[in-house]
Amino acid sequence: MNILVTGGAGYIGSHTCVELLNAGHRVVVFDNFCNSFPEAVRRVETITGKSLALVEGDIRDRAAIEQALRQYQCEAVIHFAGLKAVGESVAKPLEYYDNNVVGTIRLLEAMQATGVKTIVFSSSATVYGMPQFLPYREDHPLSATNPYGRGKIMVEEILRDFHVAQPDSRIALLRYFNPVGAHESGLIGEDPQGVPNNLMPFVTQVAIGKRDRLNIWGGDYETPDGTGVRDYIHVTDLAIGHVKALEYLQKPQCFAVNLGSGQGHSVFDVVKAFEQTSGKNIPYKIEPRRPGDLPAYYADVTLAKSVLDWEATRSLKTMCADSWRWQMNNPNGFRA
Ligand code: NAD
Ligand code: UD1
Repeated sequence: MNILVTGGAGYIGSHTCVELLNAGHRVVVFDNFCNSFPEAVRRVETITGKSLALVEGDIRDRAAIEQALRQYQCEAVIHFAGLKAVGESVAKPLEYYDNNVVGTIRLLEAMQATGVKTIVFSSSATVYGMPQFLPYREDHPLSATNPYGRGKIMVEEILRDFHVAQPDSRIALLRYFNPVGAHESGLIGEDPQGVPNNLMPFVTQVAIGKRDRLNIWGGDYETPDGTGVRDYIHVTDLAIGHVKALEYLQKPQCFAVNLGSGQGHSVFDVVKAFEQTSGKNIPYKIEPRRPGDLPAYYADVTLAKSVLDWEATRSLKTMCADSWRWQMNNPNGFRA
């Protein structure tokens, strides 16, 4: 299949391009490089030994997307492009809604104009908000406490409305839990700009000596060891989930599904697993809770198993080992 991958130069997008090419699909990356580098796409080609098409453009530019969809005769879109920093979304809500919500509307218009009916959307576990029960099942009520999360809920609703109006459309809403890790080659991985917000890139930067210590945001949660619990999923497992979702979209439908491991791990679990696999000591200090953080959440993965015939197979240790290899081989990320 010919697939347009918006945001395909980014962290999850680049890993998904590898799995799409390995599965025999042809890939067109559409990215404006606001949070990535063309080098990531070149490395996808190195890993797979296959070439892909690269279009530099913004998803809010409807004509540019239409042109790419036509030129490469795309039959499906995987839509990763978006801004993803929760704190920044609170400071710059209009920028986030414009990029993530308006951008998706422009993309859907371009798909409609060119007759492309299949889209896989990057949603997030953040759409569930404060847990009313755990593990989160897909029918858990949706709520959000910040513009980033609200934007994800809005796009999910827009896509459901779009499906009602276009019943022959094929739409998957993939709710990711916490993606970590990197491709086993050590050639591509997460490349945060500035101080990382997320746990794993911060840990790897402490290990390599870029940061003195890890700040653990809260040691007094009602969790087994007092630190926050999350469902970490290896980015390669997540990428394979996209290939499975595309295969499942053979018939018209619109569905939401969790992509997680189904297991909760605390911050201390991650630190211990990282220390064991890297042989590095991670100094840390317990600091006050980070505003907006939830104590614990993880996925019910029953639906993904039964519907997509997919489940995460890579362990927390593999996630740590692969993150560490990527960090060691690329201390400055994709910058030379
Ligand atoms: P990323 O920042 O690494 O990748 C996003 C890519 O989209 C980047 O290459 C960026 O340059 C591009 N982009 C952004 N705005 C664009 C625009 N207007 N036009 C064209 N390209 C644009 O992020 P990621 O971690 O790979 O996340 C991909 C998607 O998954 C995002 O939608 C994100 O919200 C969602 N998601 C990520 C996580 C996570 O923890 N990483 C969790 C849940 C959901
Ligand atoms: C964050 C976002 C969430 C987004 C997800 C994936 C917030 C409030 N939430 O989730 O919307 O979908 O990233 O990108 O930003 N931690 C530390 N020290 C650190 C960093 C993190 O102790 O330096 C802890 C956190 O408190 C949390 C766990 O590690 O318990 C994971 O944090 P993080 O990687 O930032 O992901 P989330 O907070 O789950």
